[in-house]
Amino acid sequence: MQRAFLEQQAFQCGFCTPGMIMAVEGLIRANPNPDEAEIRDYLSGNLCWCGTYSAVIAAVQSVVVQARAETENSRPAAH
Ligand code: FES
Repeated sequence: MQRAFLEQQAFQCGFCTPGMIMAVEGLIRANPNPDEAEIRDYLSGNLCWCGTYSAVIAAVQSVVVQARAETENSRPAAH
């Protein structure tokens, strides 16, 4: 998640970043495949004065997509 935040430039001053990361880690554990509305709803209590919400959403979505791909690649091939 930290790498995704870096890659998506999901912070500016970084003040909110630890809380954002902890919150989305909790979300991913509770729901490994959240949609955008669920991510936004889950983060509704986390404020970012720098306004990086869109990048935070993109970071979480990139983690979800990557985790989904890794899960699909780890499944045995169907015969
Ligand atoms: S990055 Fe500055 S408050 Fe969120």
